[in-house]
Amino acid sequence: MNDSQSQVHLRLANRDDAGLMLGIIVSAFSTRRVLDPPTDALSDTVEVVRARLDGQLGIIASVEDTAVGCLFLALDRKRRIGTMHRVSVLPETRRHGVATHLATAAAELAVDAEMTSLQLVARRELPEVIGWWGTHGFRTISQIDEHNLLLGIELPARIKVPTSEAMASLGNKLAGVLRGGDVIVANGDLGAGKTTLAQGLGQGLSVSGPITSPTFVISRIHPSRTGPQLVHVDAYRLASAAEIDDLDLDDSLTGSVTFIEWGAGLVEQLSADRLEIDIERSPDIDDNTRTVTIRAVGSRWADVDLHALFSEEL
Ligand SMILES: Nc1ncnc2c1ncn2[C@@H]1O[C@H](COP(=O)(O)OP(=O)(O)OP(=O)(O)O)[C@@H](O)[C@H]1O
Ligand SMILES: [Mg+2]
Repeated sequence: MNDSQSQVHLRLANRDDAGLMLGIIVSAFSTRRVLDPPTDALSDTVEVVRARLDGQLGIIASVEDTAVGCLFLALDRKRRIGTMHRVSVLPETRRHGVATHLATAAAELAVDAEMTSLQLVARRELPEVIGWWGTHGFRTISQIDEHNLLLGIELPARIKVPTSEAMASLGNKLAGVLRGGDVIVANGDLGAGKTTLAQGLGQGLSVSGPITSPTFVISRIHPSRTGPQLVHVDAYRLASAAEIDDLDLDDSLTGSVTFIEWGAGLVEQLSADRLEIDIERSPDIDDNTRTVTIRAVGSRWADVDLHALFSEEL
């Protein structure tokens, strides 16, 4: 089995899956190195797993109709923290991306449930496990005790935007935390609302000139009366990262807020710090609501609480 042949399917577990999940958990944890004290996963029973499913979400991963991995996700709605437990993959299916699929699904569910971070506890004696989570962005938050570390990752903020006016006010609000040097990459299909967001941003930054979807122009500079100028780029027609380099955006970056439509995959080398914004339409064509996901990348955003910024109604 390899990734190109096998497709991993994910589904939510129900109470009837307790036995199935227990089998995967026991198989996964009993083949790990023996620890002292031993992992409490090995004392799980069907009753314990079933009871856990009453309060937590279970996710099951299957390959070719065979369940090969699972995890639990507890949602603390008050503290807005999602916690994964018992991340388990059958030993024979390890290193095929099953755990990555499981963790990605848990993060998606946690984002939808408006959690601000996703966490898990890992044994200190298993540096390879901690390293694996590290490659997926999880950092040590604290040392719980001599044997256990709390690992976590910040989750993107997800906002429902019902109208184009609300999209503009989202941009306006976002402008309040921006400063010269900031880079925003906006992605989403044709007509998703990227330019509408940029218009709100421009208003918030008090820039001049109408902000439109540039048809013939790839990049436009809008000076501001009060703060950083807005550099609005449409990368739709750019085929490669080399063409982005040709725009010499680096020169204008420090004094500007740079907003790039269609920039994913092209502009990552421009700035290690950036906001990545995805705008998704509703599958229902009569519904204008857009789902906007804002992910902060880099240390620039470490102290900016995007979740708090967008927690109120637009
Ligand atoms: N909730 C919404 N958010 C944003 N735009 C909306 C919303 N509902 C309706 N609209 C409309 O959808 C259109 C979005 O167009 P816009 O030019 O902002 O998209 P775009 O993502 O920049 O497209 P392109 O890829 O062609 O540049 C506008 O006509 C806007 O009025
Ligand atoms: Mg546009």
